Formats: sequence, structure tokens, C-alpha cells
Amino acid sequence: EKGGYEHFMLKEIHEQPDAIRDTYRGRLLAKEGIIKMSGIDDNIEKFTNADKITIVACGTSWHAGLVAEYIFEDLARIPVEVEYASEFRYRNPVITNKDVVIAISQSGETADTLAAIKLAKQNGAFVFGVCNVVGSSIARETHAGAYTHAGPEIGVASTKAFTTQITVLTLIALKLAKVKGKISNSNYHYHLQELELIPEKVQKALQSDQHIQNVAKTYKDAKNCLYLGRGYNFPVALEGALKLKEISYIHAEGYPAAEMKHGPIALIDEQMPVFVIATNKGHYEKVVSNIEEIKSRAGKIIGIVTEGDANVKNLADHIIEVPETLESLTPLLTTIPLQLLSYHIAVMLNKNVDQPRNLAKSVTVE
Ligand code: F6R
Repeated sequence: EKGGYEHFMLKEIHEQPDAIRDTYRGRLLAKEGIIKMSGIDDNIEKFTNADKITIVACGTSWHAGLVAEYIFEDLARIPVEVEYASEFRYRNPVITNKDVVIAISQSGETADTLAAIKLAKQNGAFVFGVCNVVGSSIARETHAGAYTHAGPEIGVASTKAFTTQITVLTLIALKLAKVKGKISNSNYHYHLQELELIPEKVQKALQSDQHIQNVAKTYKDAKNCLYLGRGYNFPVALEGALKLKEISYIHAEGYPAAEMKHGPIALIDEQMPVFVIATNKGHYEKVVSNIEEIKSRAGKIIGIVTEGDANVKNLADHIIEVPETLESLTPLLTTIPLQLLSYHIAVMLNKNVDQPRNLAKSVTVE
């Protein structure tokens, strides 16, 4: 049942090229320049007339929501708020019938997310679900939705659910960008073509596995780790840190790279591995100068970079390459080495990778 893999988590990490393909199959018609999603098509005015979109979720799904915030605002020019469902539900949030709420949940059973949906509905919002489990409570409670079609995720640490959630949300953002006339034709088509290429690029990123094992060996005994990223890759830094915490029990924190100087930089010494996502688009030069700040404090630097990168290589202790893509799609690639890294560290530390202590796959109590 683990398909020859030692753990479900590793199997699910490796399933991501197929899972992402399954997510966009029948929806993404790159050649025709069409995105077909009945849950959006049938409710298009709700989306195009929305004052704002509020995303509610927990954990890894909340991180997918943060990535979506960047892409919705960047491409579709719709204001987005991303909320922890557990905070939203008790905060008397400002939600009206002019709002769209998107709930993201792999299991579709998370109690706080379900409660947030009920509250949003009471306030008149249109609620859209992005779930993996078909027929789950959240899928039933929402007005409409889009499944991720990632297939069953058994490992407690979420992997393919995350990348497929981002895929669905990217499709929605592109569709809305097009309908609202916020994206140029050429940029729209370029995005569709690049999205279609993501599965093979994920496959390529997975080929660094052996190298990542060596990196894992070097840092497995760290007591603390920092994960840094900017823009689209800030949420990936949060997700990388969460993965490491969950399965290896090593303390880790994710930060926007530029926030480092406002506090966490005090933590940096030669004992501190810092995983920095520094792909070649967006804020590349700024991230490189953040890396220089870490280096001058003797921190260990592991750069997640675009293939062929020359600058970070000179500064970092290790680099892990991912293929090049559009900035907005980089989270689908930069996530992969961070998942593998956590996996290998946890295995080397003899932890129960698929069922980490104190965690359950679906959190049906608040
Ligand atoms: C992280 C993880 C959790 C879940 C969170 C939400 O690896 O598995 O943080 O992401 O409990 O679960 P869903 O998406 O099922 O609502």
C-alpha cells in the first residue's frame, strides 16, 4: 500500500507530479486558453462582485491560503485576507453578503474551519470550499467548491494536499484575473503554459533527493532552525518550518526574510542553520543581501535556488536547486526540497514520520 516507499509521507511527496496533474486535468486547457471550473463558472458574479475574499483554514492549509493571497492580489487584484479559522470564528469578523469566503481543508473535517464556514454563512457570505476528501463535512457545508483530487493523504504531515491546494487556488486566481480583465492576454497564456509544466518540474526537483539526504545528515542534530523567504515564498518558509517541527520535533521558525533584522537575527550563530528560499525572480537581490547578513554572523546557510544560480552558491554552505518557473508558481517547486529535508531528518532521528506524537490527521475537535 506504500507502493514500495518506506513511509506514506515519502510516497505522497513523490506522488506530487501526478497529484498536481490530476488537480488540473480537465480544468486547465492551456492551448485553448481556458480554465474550466464549474464551481467558479456557476457563481462567477459572486466572485467578480466581491468586496474582498477571506480565506479561512488551519495549519498547512492556512499556508496554502497565504500563497493564494499573493496570487489573487497580484493577478486578479481582489483584496484578500487570510485567517486562522480558530481566530476568525471568535472574532466577530466583518463579513457581509458582499464577501466571498474560501475555506481550505484537506480532510474537510477540521472543526474550527467548519465553525468559521457556519459563521460566514450566517453573515450572508458566499462560501467556497477547497477540499481533498470528497463528500466531507466542509465539502457539504459550503455553497460550492473545487476538489483538489490529490488522492488519499495518509501521512499526518500534509504534503501533496498543500501543492494541490495551491494548484486549485492558482487556477481560480487566473480565471478571475481573466474574467475581470486584470491580466494581459499574453501573461495569462504564459501562466497557463507554465502551470502545465509544473508536474515535470516537480519531478525534476524530486531528483535532488540524494543531495538533500546529505544536507539532512549535516543538520539533523540542530536544536533550532530558521526558514526565510519573501513574497510568494514567505508562506513556503512557514510551511518548511512547520514540516520540520511536526515530524522531527526540532524547533523551527519561518519568517519573511526582511523581518530577520527586527529580532530573530539575534538568534544567529554558528549553531543555527538558516534555510533561505532565494529563487531568481521577485526579491532575489534583497534576499541575497539578507543571506549576507546571516553569513556575517556565522549562521549556516542552505539556499533553495533556481538552477544555475551563481551568487548564492558563493555565500551558502549548501544549495539545493529547483527548476526555473514564473515567480507566482515557485511555491510549487520550492516546497519540494523542504518536504524532503524534513522527511530525511525525521527518519535519521528515528521519529515516527507518518504518525508524529500528539498529532492527528484530522482535528475534529476545537
Ligand atoms: C500539517 C498538518 C496540519 C493540517 C491542519 C488542517 O502538516 O497536517 O497542520 O494542515 O490540521 O487540516 P485540514 O487541511 O484537513 O483542514
